[in-house]
Amino acid sequence: MAEQLRFDGQVVVVTGAGGGLGKAYCLFFGSRGASVVVNDLGASLKGEANSTKAADVVVNEIKAAGGKAVANYDSVENGDKIIETAIKEFGRIDILINNAGILRDISFKNMKDEDWDLIFKVHVKGSYKTARAAWPYFRKQKFGRVINTASAAGLFGNFGQANYSAAKLAMVGFTETLAKEGIKYNIISNVIAPIAASRMTETVMPPDLLALMKPEWVVPLVAVLVHKNNTSETGSIFEVGGGHVAKLRWERSSGLLLKADESYTPGAIIKKWDQVMDFSNPQYPSGPNDFLALLEESLKLGPNDPGEKVDFTGRVALVT
Ligand code: NAI
Repeated sequence: MAEQLRFDGQVVVVTGAGGGLGKAYCLFFGSRGASVVVNDLGASLKGEANSTKAADVVVNEIKAAGGKAVANYDSVENGDKIIETAIKEFGRIDILINNAGILRDISFKNMKDEDWDLIFKVHVKGSYKTARAAWPYFRKQKFGRVINTASAAGLFGNFGQANYSAAKLAMVGFTETLAKEGIKYNIISNVIAPIAASRMTETVMPPDLLALMKPEWVVPLVAVLVHKNNTSETGSIFEVGGGHVAKLRWERSSGLLLKADESYTPGAIIKKWDQVMDFSNPQYPSGPNDFLALLEESLKLGPNDPGEKVDFTGRVALVT
C-alpha cells in the first residue's frame, strides 16, 4: 500500500480557516496526524461582522474524524494571539498557513482610503503578525514552514482590485525575504496564487467551472511544500488550482549596457531599445543584478551613440 505523507506530532496554524481553502487545509492536516489551530473570525466577504461559528464547525469536523484541533477567533491583525493559542494548547508551532482574506473590489476611480487600508490590514499586516510571532519558535527549533497566499490579481493585475492586487503582490516580496532569512534555520517559505471555488469566486465564475475547482485540489501542493522532507524549495511562487500546478519565476532580459558618462542620454537608450526588450537569452534571477560588475563593464565601453528620429520630412535627426 502507498505510504501517506504524514504530519504526526506537528502543529499547524491556518488563518481564515472557517470556509473555502482554509477549511480544506485544516481537514487535510487534521486527517494526517497534525494538531490544527483553526483561526477564523467569521467575517463577511468584505470583512464585516464576526462569529465563532465558522471555526467551530471545522474544529468539530476534525474532532469527529478522530483528529486534534482547537478554534481561535482573533483577527489576523492580532496574529500573535493566534500563535499564542497554538503554544498554549499544543506547546509548539511548526507550520503556518497565512490564508485569511477579504475583498473590497471597486474601480480605482471610486476607491476610498478605507478600501485600501482594510485590505492591507488583513492580507499584509495579518500575514506579518502571525509570521512574526511564530518566527522565534521556528528559529529556536530549527524548523518552520510558511505558506503565504498571493493571487493572480497580484501577479498580473485585475480590474477593480488595485487594493487587493497590491496587497497580494506584497505577499511575494514578503515570502522571498522570509525565505532568505529563514533558510539557515530550516525555515521554508513559499507563496501560492490559488484558484478555487469559494464564496470569493462563486459570484464571478459560472457553476460548471466552479465544479472543476475544488479547494481540496489546492491542498496537495501545500502539503508537499510544508512537509519536513522539503528542505530546499523556498521563496518560490506557485499557481495552483483545478488540478494544475506551475511554478512562476522572474525573467530578466539580457539587457542593455551603456557607457556611464555624459553620452548616456535618453536618445542612447532609444537607439538600443531592442536590447532592453531582448528575451532571447534570458536570466532567471533570484536577486538583483551585480551592479558593481556591470558598472565596471560599462566603464570599458566607448561613448554611446545618440538615438535616431525620423521627422515628417523624412529627415533623420539625432536624439539625445
Ligand atoms: P473565503 O472567503 O472562503 O475564506 C476566507 C476566510 O478568511 C473567511 O472564512 C473569513 O472569515 C476569513 N477572514 C477574513 N478576514 C479575517 C481576519 N481579519 N482574521 C481572520 N480570518 C479572516 O475565501 P477563499 O477563496 O477560501 O480564500 C482564501 C485565500 O485565498 C484568501 O487569501 C484569498 O485572497 C486567496 N485567493 C483565493 C482565490 C480563489 O480562487 N478562491 C484566488 C486567489 C487568491
